[in-house]
Amino acid sequence: MSFLRSRFVQAALILVLSAVILRFGIRPPAPWSVFTLYMAVVFLAVLIFVSSDSDSWRGFIRPIRSTLVDPDQRVLRSALVVVIPLLLGYYAYTQAAAKPQAPAELRAVHPAPPDTIQFRGKQINISGAENPLRKDQASRQKHVAAGAALYIRNCVYCHGDNLDGQGHFARGFNPPPANFQDPGTIAMLQEAYLFWRIAKGGPGLPRESTPWNSVMPSWEDRLTEEQIWQVIMYLYDATGQQPRRWETAH
Ligand code: HEC
Repeated sequence: MSFLRSRFVQAALILVLSAVILRFGIRPPAPWSVFTLYMAVVFLAVLIFVSSDSDSWRGFIRPIRSTLVDPDQRVLRSALVVVIPLLLGYYAYTQAAAKPQAPAELRAVHPAPPDTIQFRGKQINISGAENPLRKDQASRQKHVAAGAALYIRNCVYCHGDNLDGQGHFARGFNPPPANFQDPGTIAMLQEAYLFWRIAKGGPGLPRESTPWNSVMPSWEDRLTEEQIWQVIMYLYDATGQQPRRWETAH
């Protein structure tokens, strides 16, 4: 074990050991900046240690100098001339290369609705359901007016008095309140879909509609079944949009 007496080998061993301990011996792992800082301190301490007297310093320098100038170290020297730039180049490459990024989190704005929901202890079909109030054309105006009153009382401060999602509170929310004037909302949805969304709100959304929490309230405890169908009629009436029909092709 005589090589252990060489100052150079001692210094190298201390550095390698400290690196291993700092990297793998600390839980949770220390950040890279802390690691490099501690390694710099260890490196300085090792330099002080090997240069504490001239014999020790010469012992430390000897293998370095011999590698650099001795004729019989030519092979090692040539190998280092190739390997060191390669390592540096590889390091620079790994730093500069594009890293795989986690995909941006996408939110399903209109997830598939459930087939049925529980509404105040009653089961309501969503899949294939139509707005029952539309059967009675004579009471249409009455339902729309009732829906307007419900809208002003409950929805306006988020969805806005122009139904454009610009209510007083809107700016504070992410995702923002739906803009019903936009063809991307109620115009492409069935009325039963809206019934589900209004009854169950943000809390009723399935997981694919996260990561953001919708503040859309769940209205099932505050509005009756008929009131929800009325406010839906108002949404279409006020925006001039037509609800999407259920595809009958099956
Ligand atoms: C506290 C604010 C707030 C209130 C009050 C509110 N909403 Fe919403 N609503 C939202 C937000 C935010 C969204 C968008 C996120 C989502 O889809 O859940 C939304 C979405 C909706 C949607 C879904 C539209 C789509 O394209 O999927 C409907 C329908 C809706 N609201 C109707 C209503 C009705 C009707 C009322 C009143 C009874 C109401 N909202 C009250 C915040 C609100």
